[in-house]
Amino acid sequence: MNPFIFQSPTKVLFGEYTTTGCADLLLELGAKRPLLVADGFLLESGMLDPMIDNLRGLGEEPCIFAEVPSDSDVACVDKAAQLAREHGCDSIVAVGGGSVIDTAKVVAICLTLGGDLLDYQGLNCIERKLVPLVVVPTTAGTGSEVSFVAMIKDKKEGKKLLFGSPYLAPDVAMLDPTLILSLPPRLTAATGMDAITHGIEAFVASGTFSVATDALCLESLRLMFRHLPEAFSRGDDMEARSATLVASTMAGIAFTNSGVGIVHALAHSVGAKFGTHHGMTNAVLLPFGMEFNMEQAEQRFARIADYALASDCLEFSGKSDSYKAAFLLDRIRNLLVEFSLPKSLKELGLPELDDDVLNELSCMAASDPAIMFNPRETTDEDLIEIIKRAY
Ligand SMILES: NC(=O)c1ccc[n+]([C@@H]2O[C@H](COP(=O)([O-])OP(=O)(O)OC[C@H]3O[C@@H](n4cnc5c(N)ncnc54)[C@H](O)[C@@H]3O)[C@@H](O)[C@H]2O)c1
Ligand SMILES: [Fe+2]
Repeated sequence: MNPFIFQSPTKVLFGEYTTTGCADLLLELGAKRPLLVADGFLLESGMLDPMIDNLRGLGEEPCIFAEVPSDSDVACVDKAAQLAREHGCDSIVAVGGGSVIDTAKVVAICLTLGGDLLDYQGLNCIERKLVPLVVVPTTAGTGSEVSFVAMIKDKKEGKKLLFGSPYLAPDVAMLDPTLILSLPPRLTAATGMDAITHGIEAFVASGTFSVATDALCLESLRLMFRHLPEAFSRGDDMEARSATLVASTMAGIAFTNSGVGIVHALAHSVGAKFGTHHGMTNAVLLPFGMEFNMEQAEQRFARIADYALASDCLEFSGKSDSYKAAFLLDRIRNLLVEFSLPKSLKELGLPELDDDVLNELSCMAASDPAIMFNPRETTDEDLIEIIKRAY
């Protein structure tokens, strides 16, 4: 067996209404005055009331910041950090999708370390533990509740800033499926496709996967393929929501340890340039990235199909790896149709791409850390070709 390192410092709690135990968790972490960074829709809907009541048990009215935009940026982080300082907050609780959680992670950097945020951007530029961070994901997709990264936009420079460090792993992730029931079908599908992309890319990542990440990817993908269509068509199905929530956290732990690949590298550049939703962009690009990697990853794709899709296929026994890998790719394409998601970058809303834009996108993707883990070496020409095919 190849040597490997595996770490996942975040304590994960799963259960309906598990968030009503948040105050005790904060006390265990030595904190009692949290800044609550919350999704605006969930706050307005009253769905967070039980949790907020529980936080009142800490002795004060919780300080709440609920102004995170979908494409969160430096200005939003500054505003939240300022509010936290004014109220003497000693910790952060984040409840929302990846945008809210990533914002909270970067606010934790500001609160703990101060100074210029840009000094901490990049990989491993944070040198000590941050203020306690408890997160509650309300989409089943990004894996940010357990990952070591956060991405927010620098609107001035027109690019996404990446922060990557084990110190960005939240202390606790509380998975409460009741908080995802309200996620609309299209976002359920798009965020779910993000988790599926994490599972697939982490499983074929070059030289970094291990038996530990394999186990997480395979079971995460089995759960997703089985339950995402149910969560899409019946949003109030608690079992389906629970399965997708846990599966997306498992994929998050996997990609944190083994990395992602070309689909994420391209999705990051398209998202930074055109402001498209992360999961939706991955969904469009996944079949094209898989096609590009087919030769190098065929055996691994076949293993995914064997484990996660065998129940969908009556005739797997005796079939070749290429048959099974093609079956997996077809299943992904069919999911996009079933979910009425865009199948090309044009359908995603991108304008015609001239040579300058193609070069810009390929340059961004080539310098994205995700590309390092792709199983097939890529050139700028390869990246441009994939973008053109995906358009
Ligand atoms: N840090 C990481 O490891 C990591 C990994 C992947 C993506 N990301 C980042 O995550 C972001 C995308 O996150 P996302 O896909 O979760 O989407 P999001 O957080 O941008 O949310 C999308 C929309 O869904 C709404 N929403 C969220 N939960 C809801 C619920 N339960 N009910 C109804 N509406 C709800 C939000 O208000 C928002 O309008 C991107 O910024 C991306 O860069 C981070
Ligand atoms: Fe992702």
